[in-house]
Amino acid sequence: MHGGYFMDIWHVHGGSRLEGSCRVQGSKNASLPILAATILTPQRCELLRVPRLTDVDAALRILRRLGCRACRRDGTVAVDSAALSCCAVPHELMAEMRSSVIFMGALLARCGEARLSLPGGCKLGKRPIDLHLAALRKLGAEIEEEGGELHCRAGQLRGAEIELGFPSVGATENAMLAACGAKGETVIRGAAREPEIVALQDFLRAMGAGIEGAGSGVIRIRGFQPRGLVRFRVPADRIAAATFACAAAGCGGDVELLGLEAQEISALLHFLNAAGCDIINDKHALRIRAQGRLLPVGPVVTAPYPGFPTDAQPLLMAAMLRARGRTLIRETIFEQRFRQVPELCRLGAQIRVDGRTAEILGVERLRGAALQATDLRGGAAMILAALAAEGESVVLDEGHVRRGYEELDRSLESLGARIVLEH
Ligand code: EPZ
Repeated sequence: MHGGYFMDIWHVHGGSRLEGSCRVQGSKNASLPILAATILTPQRCELLRVPRLTDVDAALRILRRLGCRACRRDGTVAVDSAALSCCAVPHELMAEMRSSVIFMGALLARCGEARLSLPGGCKLGKRPIDLHLAALRKLGAEIEEEGGELHCRAGQLRGAEIELGFPSVGATENAMLAACGAKGETVIRGAAREPEIVALQDFLRAMGAGIEGAGSGVIRIRGFQPRGLVRFRVPADRIAAATFACAAAGCGGDVELLGLEAQEISALLHFLNAAGCDIINDKHALRIRAQGRLLPVGPVVTAPYPGFPTDAQPLLMAAMLRARGRTLIRETIFEQRFRQVPELCRLGAQIRVDGRTAEILGVERLRGAALQATDLRGGAAMILAALAAEGESVVLDEGHVRRGYEELDRSLESLGARIVLEH
């Protein structure tokens, strides 16, 4: 405990090459909407490969508060929502995790009502939920907003044509979940195409939904007939995989990643390859081999899937700090996703930010320093940069990194990194 709140302290001793193989954790951003989806059916759901993360724990607490039984045994989470007795998510649970807004569509589908507080603006800048609300209203929900509280009601949700002005991941998920409780067909146009949307569709199908089209911009939901016990394996976390790939690229090394669909990070692999890394993709593993200073790449422009993921932007930035020249990165998804920059500069990095563009001038060497994590991926980027720096760094972190990474310290250590997490 420091100053009254919990603090994770990452001690990093940089300079080691990374070598070895690493199994990629289950996906955080697939697990969260799937956990919300479990309340659509009164049947028991068993979810395999759910990562141990503080965000997942927050979702399990919400399920329990709603009256569900939710427990974890090793990597498997079992949820039984037969006894769901409440449709309100209290403010303190909403505040723990922004993506709890995904419970809105699921609660409407199951109970015809949902009460939750508005998720606050977060560390990445303004994060409105207007697209979520417009989609649910299209399905017939009445939504009142008062004093930061949302009250959504629907006698009977009705299938509708929903057009999303921007392919928001969360709005697509909320619309898919609510549409499962609607009478008649729903068509979502302009839908997000991220692999997590496909994972949610696969899970909804296993539960008994008639749904198709995820992965394209048009998703159709025809209805929902609950089946018996549902067992489902959460796919691998593409951003965790991207993290190890960028660590190998930035530190130099030879790292093999197991259990992921390499195709899902092809936008990142394209740039790592252009930077001089060997990318070897066979059926059983993805291997990233890097030697010496990287070549500059870019411009790298973040975009909805299959474009370059905003979540991997700080990670690629960390890998490029010692490249032989200038890399440009343009962030188009979030307003404030360069908050890692001043911290990375403490290691000796040269980065100039102008609006939504960051210019990274590669330096020959980085030196260890004391840093403060700003957000989940920004914090991970600081750890990667510290691994590529000479000497010791300390990254102070109010729990951001453990929201999204399962035992990041141990995985990196198993690859030869010198890292200790104190908490
Ligand atoms: C998901 O957030 C992910 N979170 C984020 O992962 C990820 O960065 C993001 O998608 C983009 O890929 C989860 O899946 C739990 P969006 P989400 O709605 O759903 C604007 C991580 O590090 N927007 O696609 O919140 C919004 O402000 C994280 O794991 C509206 O304007 O992302 C943003 O600029 C953080 N109105 C953009 O769209 C809305 O109603 C993308 O947001 C909704 C979104």
